[in-house]
Amino acid sequence: MNDFATDIALPPALDGVNLLDPDIFADDRYLEHFRHLRAHAPVYLQPATGTTGAFWNISRYQDIAQVDTNHHIFSSEGSIVFEDFYKAFPVKMFIAMDPPKHTECRAPVMPLFSSRNMEAMDELIRSRCRAILDDLPRGVPFDWVERVARELTGQMLATLLGIPQEDRHKLLRWSDLVTSNGFGLIADETARQAEFMECLSYFMGLLKRRPAAGAAPDLITSLFNGETTRDMPPSELLGNLLLLIIAGNDTTRNTITGGVLALHQAPDQYQLLREYPEVIPNMVSEMIRWQTPLAYMRRTALADTRIGGQLIRAGDKVLIWYISANRDEQAFDEPELFRIDRLNARKHLSFGLGIHRCVGARFAESQLRILWEEIQARFDRVEVVGAPEPLRSSFVKGYNAMQVVLHEK
Ligand code: HEM
Repeated sequence: MNDFATDIALPPALDGVNLLDPDIFADDRYLEHFRHLRAHAPVYLQPATGTTGAFWNISRYQDIAQVDTNHHIFSSEGSIVFEDFYKAFPVKMFIAMDPPKHTECRAPVMPLFSSRNMEAMDELIRSRCRAILDDLPRGVPFDWVERVARELTGQMLATLLGIPQEDRHKLLRWSDLVTSNGFGLIADETARQAEFMECLSYFMGLLKRRPAAGAAPDLITSLFNGETTRDMPPSELLGNLLLLIIAGNDTTRNTITGGVLALHQAPDQYQLLREYPEVIPNMVSEMIRWQTPLAYMRRTALADTRIGGQLIRAGDKVLIWYISANRDEQAFDEPELFRIDRLNARKHLSFGLGIHRCVGARFAESQLRILWEEIQARFDRVEVVGAPEPLRSSFVKGYNAMQVVLHEK
């Protein structure tokens, strides 16, 4: 990319801040950086760093919506992140494909996420929420991430994929290894590669499995039988399965945890929730806006174009920062406040827009809504005790652990 691919003055650099530095996310410094960018440099070219070339950073809501809904110019092909997972595990995922291939891969999984199918899942979600919550200790600290957030999303994802419940911990482990880049989880790169090989052979085993006749459809069966996917090479089938695991796990899990934290930090909102539990569906949208579990998506410009008046050249890399769109003062009134009755909370961009908009949005919302209905039925308060342990990533905004104490009604 040409660093001077512009016809207007470049904004001043952010004093050497690298917007992909995981530490600015782990300690919440990103908020002030993006506030500065939205105000002074909404289309900002970050110079090349040690690990990436130069790339554009789009921080305003309207500009991000424009890029995300224009896949003819802004391609997802190849990769939608900068984290270097593909080198370690070269598979193809439809989130990182353009039409027509993207359409072919997305089509077979869509029926599984239909409103009818999602409604049919509600009772199962509820019974699992009840079992998980009823099993928790009262009045003493425990890790909310481990006991609730990971447990519920892991159980539901295993059901959705059609894999045995006892294998769900494997899914969580592989998902963690990808999103944390193994940071703090694994001794070295060789060990990480070995675990990915194990993951590969597990899925190869599943791919050989023939779905039982008359069995209810699950994601693996749908991919197996899909007209456009059944002849896919194994690396693509595996990539798409892995996509569903990563996309479905971390995002919902981190919103479950982030929501508890947001309510803990805003006692007036907790009081509002106690008084008006019917606000829960809207609160779920506000939690998803607040957390923005995937910070950005990356695109590559296919032609010269303009965003917010700025010339972007074909071949340039463009990052659309959902995490900034959701805090844009032009889109949300007092965006830094967590308000469970926010009128336009559903306008958040956490699920993206356009042809890649999240397929699991409704599934994630159902888990969050039902979990909160069941929490409210049991507990006066989920108190956060001690600082949560943040995930170290510029892509996934989340938590490794968070100690809480439950207070009964
Ligand atoms: C709060 C929870 C979630 C959030 C915030 C979220 C966010 C996102 C985002 C930002 C995208 C890309 C959108 C774009 O490029 O325009 C996406 C795509 C996707 N998500 Fe989610 N997601 C969530 C839950 C889930 C769940 C539960 C599943 C599945 C079980 C899932 C599966 C997918 C898939 C398969 C894609 C790729 C869609 C495509 O490329 O056409 N997500 N998600």
